[in-house]
Amino acid sequence: MRIFSGIQPTGRKHVGNYIGAIRGYLEGQERGDPAIYCIVDLHATSVAYDPKALPRYVLDTTAMLMAAGLDPDRCILFRQSDVREHSELTWLLSSVTAYGDLQRMHQFKDKSEREQELVRTSLFLYPVLQAADILIYKTDEVPVGDDQRQHLELAREIARRFNSTYAEVFVEPRHVIPDVGARVMDLQDHVAKMSTTYSSDSGLVYIDDPPDAVRRKVKRAQTDSGTEVVRAPEKPGITNLIEIMAVSRGVEPEDVEREFDGQGYGAFKEAVGEALVELLAPVRGRYEELRPDEDALRETLRGGAERARTIAAGTMTEVRAAMGVGELG
Ligand code: TRP
Repeated sequence: MRIFSGIQPTGRKHVGNYIGAIRGYLEGQERGDPAIYCIVDLHATSVAYDPKALPRYVLDTTAMLMAAGLDPDRCILFRQSDVREHSELTWLLSSVTAYGDLQRMHQFKDKSEREQELVRTSLFLYPVLQAADILIYKTDEVPVGDDQRQHLELAREIARRFNSTYAEVFVEPRHVIPDVGARVMDLQDHVAKMSTTYSSDSGLVYIDDPPDAVRRKVKRAQTDSGTEVVRAPEKPGITNLIEIMAVSRGVEPEDVEREFDGQGYGAFKEAVGEALVELLAPVRGRYEELRPDEDALRETLRGGAERARTIAAGTMTEVRAAMGVGELG
């Protein structure tokens, strides 16, 4: 079972990232043969960014993933740009990608509307690079948040079109979404996902927020009318907190509803704050130990890239032969 996922190198990760994606990575690490996790710095260049800060963000994300429990001896953890085959495959796959399909991508539409100066062609090609990331490892499963559904469907379409146009090289990957907590919402705005780019500071809880900040943000989270702690469409705020609580404690949402039946929002929010603090405190502690040793982090990424490259280079030999580009054999 080959498992692959990619994560953006943003400076700080939040509870939405942890619950929606990183937890799935940890689970994948146990089953993957191998599980491959990629910090996607090339994707980060598809919108305005700071070239001086990017390498630092990659190290931040590396340390955060390891603090959360990824073990470079049990998975492959690497930086996308270190394995140049991803870039080459992006160009080659663009020959089996319909222009109209890329125009229909929600993320492209959203991000291009928000972009102030320049809508980069790399933003348009973003889903093709993502397909290359996945397909180059002949991935079976991709653990990732709900917002990546459309990109995954496109990756499958690209694999199918390549296989029927050239040769049966690629595997059609499956999208694995967590049942509970796939969409952690902004604590202040329940129609928006918790997001580094768009949430206000009080709307998101960072994994490395100090315990007091975690408690304060949960306490001030927007709740809904009524007093009952139950999940319901008209109670998006409480539903979000119930899911966060369930995941933090490793129980079912029904268990949370039962436990807080009749207790009211105040007591419930206090308990959610404590559960989150308990979940995050050990991660934050390990992050503080790991992050200062940059040589060790770089060494980890180098080792990961070497292992990833071995697999990627094998696929590229097949792709080039199938497409009739480059020297044969
Ligand atoms: N687009 C993904 C996100 O924003 C990140 C990503 C890049 C990815 N390449 C990937 C996710 C490959 C899964 C597989 O979350």
